[in-house]
Amino acid sequence: MKIGIITRVPGYTVRRLREEARKRGHEVVTIKYPECYVEIEQDRPTVFYRGNELNDFDAVVPRILPGMTAYGAAIIRQFEMMGVYTPVRSIAITRSRDKLRSLQLLSKAQVGIPKTIFSRETDAVDDLVDRVGTPSIIKLTSSTQGNGVVLAETKKAAKSVIQAFYVNDTSFLIQEFVKESAGIDIRVFVVGSQVVASMQRQSLDDDFRSNIHQGGTGKVIKLTEDERKTALRAAKAMGLSICGVDLMRSDRGPLVLEVNSAPGLEGIEAVTGRNVAGKIVEYIERNAKRRVKKDKVGA
Ligand SMILES: Nc1ncnc2c1ncn2[C@@H]1O[C@H](COP(=O)(O)OP(=O)(O)O)[C@@H](O)[C@H]1O
Ligand SMILES: [Mg+2]
Repeated sequence: MKIGIITRVPGYTVRRLREEARKRGHEVVTIKYPECYVEIEQDRPTVFYRGNELNDFDAVVPRILPGMTAYGAAIIRQFEMMGVYTPVRSIAITRSRDKLRSLQLLSKAQVGIPKTIFSRETDAVDDLVDRVGTPSIIKLTSSTQGNGVVLAETKKAAKSVIQAFYVNDTSFLIQEFVKESAGIDIRVFVVGSQVVASMQRQSLDDDFRSNIHQGGTGKVIKLTEDERKTALRAAKAMGLSICGVDLMRSDRGPLVLEVNSAPGLEGIEAVTGRNVAGKIVEYIERNAKRRVKKDKVGA
């Protein structure tokens, strides 16, 4: 097969995917999506890269990172229009980047999530905070790597953060603080309908955020059956056949925080010793044949 890896900054993950795909005899090309453009004409969708038409891929692997999500998703959508197989569809990429939209889909699919409030500017800030209790978590709907997540210890602090966000017309969520697992979360790597690896991430200091980018470290963890099923249900609800489901252990069972549509391989492969890249390539081999001809319209 000829496989295109669609990325912005090729790093460890792209290297590993390339390596595993080549091992299995595939031709692999890395495409930087910011340098792509699309041509739209009646019945003839095309993607160009550095002046060349990309018209002979059997499959593309999207690695659309935050920052240029809409552009990246549009490039992937164009490949979909051309009938090229992608294990991660553009609509699912866009969905996963919006924490509100993700939580709405997850809640509808009966996946456990922290109690969450979304509101426009209102005088009822006190009531909003009361509904989730304190300490409370306030996070930007577009947060990544822990950079838009605030822990407000008191109601006063929560109110002032919320009011500051209102001033800027910033979209944010107010969320119940899951005390039981402060500073710890679990990354579950899903490929197809299987969990292929999982690790626990813990912050090194007293930060409540366990993101590796905030200095957290990972270790191997054994999932409970409930956690495994929850992760698979979350992946399905988001329409993501390759993803990283982040969940927290709570007194009332696993609670999903988010589902990442471009999960990195470096941490998970190093911590678990699993060949996750190999699993992804195998999945693409199995599924690329069933090419998607028509784009389905979805939320
Ligand atoms: N409701 C919550 N209760 C406790 N800790 C939380 C909660 N939400 C987020 N965290 C912590 O903050 C980290 C970042 O939050 P997350 O929602 O994943 O945002 P981001 O997309 O920026 O990583 C999580 O990995 C977790 O450790
Ligand atoms: Mg996160």
